[in-house]
Amino acid sequence: MSRLKTIEWTNGIVRIIDQTLLPDQILYIDIATLDRMYEAIQVLRVRGAPAIGIAAAFGLYLGVKDFDDGGDINAYLDYVDERAGYLATARPTAVNLFWALDRMKRVARESAVNAGINTVGALKKRLLGEACAIHEEDERMCRAIGEAGFELIKDKGCILTHCNAGALATGGMGTALAPVYVALERGVTLKVFADETRPLLQGARITALELSEAGIPVTVICDNMAASVMATGQIKSCIVGADRIAANGDTANKIGTYGVALIAAAHNIPFYVAAPSSTFDLAIPDGAHIPIEERGRGEVAQWCGTEKKTVPDKAAVFNPSFDVTPSKLITAIITEKGAIFPPYTANIAAALTDE
Ligand code: MRU
Repeated sequence: MSRLKTIEWTNGIVRIIDQTLLPDQILYIDIATLDRMYEAIQVLRVRGAPAIGIAAAFGLYLGVKDFDDGGDINAYLDYVDERAGYLATARPTAVNLFWALDRMKRVARESAVNAGINTVGALKKRLLGEACAIHEEDERMCRAIGEAGFELIKDKGCILTHCNAGALATGGMGTALAPVYVALERGVTLKVFADETRPLLQGARITALELSEAGIPVTVICDNMAASVMATGQIKSCIVGADRIAANGDTANKIGTYGVALIAAAHNIPFYVAAPSSTFDLAIPDGAHIPIEERGRGEVAQWCGTEKKTVPDKAAVFNPSFDVTPSKLITAIITEKGAIFPPYTANIAAALTDE
């Protein structure tokens, strides 16, 4: 298990690993303001849907902890809403960002009304407690996903993953990689092929780092090698994370995931999505409603954040950060409540509303 702490609340600040520097440097940075958290989310210093949600919750607290308006609770609640609205514009696709901010806003209002919290100071404390709870819950959800996923992949031997949905993307042991860590704990070593995941190389830089540090055999391939590796027969299942799952199971994840799902289907390889319930967006019926982030030209047209050009100036660049895998290509969605199988619309609704 990776001992890297993705995100931590310590002494009044949020400490994160700056993931833009991995794997060259493991540098922890301290974040003390909402504006710095906004920037960290936007440029992917902290990334991965669950980690973004946790970061947003702490970021909102940082943004409202020094509010002072003579103790006016209503002014404070409005300020919380306004700051949350701003932080919500950091990235558009991972629903965990909005889920966490909505939860923080709701808790603030409900505490003021129902729990009789009638000072701004007590409300601030309540918000910090909620951010910590979001973090702790995510850790538990990751383990539960790992246990449920282990049952599906324990005899698979060799799996393929895309992007990074591991410990460095969450507050715990990851989502897609959690079953691999649980397997390791139980003496089952699974071999992992990691797509490098152009353009920002989360697979090569981050998945390969955390797995190799944990002693799990990992082989990095360029994204365009996945088909030929699957054709060799060595990949027994694919498992990826998610940024947003619609009510019918359509799943947005890192760009290239859809291609992996198509290749897996062509080779009769099971394709699993692993995600906590905080990644479902039951308000949207299908994947066509998921907003897809488009990022800047430089990520594609320059080599790994350097000045070196990979695309001539006169050529256009299109850089969508996510794609949508239709649910018909997904064998199962592994959540903290267990694995959900088709038909997805009915089974997702049942699983997520069943307390
Ligand atoms: O752009 P990123 O690095 O934030 O994208 C991350 C992914 O696509 C992950 O697979 C997803 O967020 C799930 S993380 C458990």
